Amino acid sequence: MEIIESVKEMQSLATAFRAEGKRIALVPTMGYLHEGHASLMREGRSLGEILVASIFVNPAQFGAGEDFDSYPRDLERDSRLAAEAGVDVIFAPRASDMYPPGYQSWVDVERLTLPLCGGSRPGHFRGVTTVVCKLFNIVMPHTALFGKKDYQQLAVIRRMTADLNMAVEIVGMPIVREADGLAMSSRNAYLTPAERESALCLSRALGEARTLFRGGERDAALLREKIVALITAEPAARIDYVELRDMETLDEVAAANERTLVALAVKIGKTRLIDNCVLGEEN
Ligand code: PAF
Repeated sequence: MEIIESVKEMQSLATAFRAEGKRIALVPTMGYLHEGHASLMREGRSLGEILVASIFVNPAQFGAGEDFDSYPRDLERDSRLAAEAGVDVIFAPRASDMYPPGYQSWVDVERLTLPLCGGSRPGHFRGVTTVVCKLFNIVMPHTALFGKKDYQQLAVIRRMTADLNMAVEIVGMPIVREADGLAMSSRNAYLTPAERESALCLSRALGEARTLFRGGERDAALLREKIVALITAEPAARIDYVELRDMETLDEVAAANERTLVALAVKIGKTRLIDNCVLGEEN
């Protein structure tokens, strides 16, 4: 497995792979890899002859006062996990190469980025779409894989790829959970043991919403109320949002159906966690 830091070197290598007719799969990450990333990499391994994982804590998607400085970083540990998952190339650029002095170009997806995390984290998705577009231009993948835990991010990236005619097939992969239901996230590393326990209220609340839906409940406001009650019963939890939206348009719904996305963002202590489910789907 090779580790490449230089943008130019990565671009030349990708050009050479393409000239040889090799299919490139990309798993974009911010590092501190976990089993969720490994599942994307294993699937990527089966979709490309060359598997690239990017590791870049992208400053452009963090707002003032967010956790850019404290975001966990460990390239040595990440390299071991990526090698085990079959990665051929890690692309780990420096921020000064990705955003050199004079940088002033941004990719903006409009309506889809307004609600949910876009509402609570202004500018976040502009940073995400810009860096993903740049990664596509540098790594030149045929296919790129993203987890459904960041549901809105996946929807926004699909929109950008379609709108800007990018020749990259976007693959969304199921949320990977710990045995007790907690959705895997690099930010789980921030949680104390007590907070880790409290954080289970997210997956429990989604489970409850699903059970009620399967029992015939269709009133979105009532489903939301039940979720809110379950989460607020947890003293360490502070709700950022609890929303029921159409899984494709992300428009709010009054009546839930199989295509309704239940999306949550909750602060446990200082750690902001997100989770979601689509009511008609298993994961
Ligand atoms: O999901 C992430 O880890 C990041 O948002 C991504 C897609 C790698 C862009 O920085």
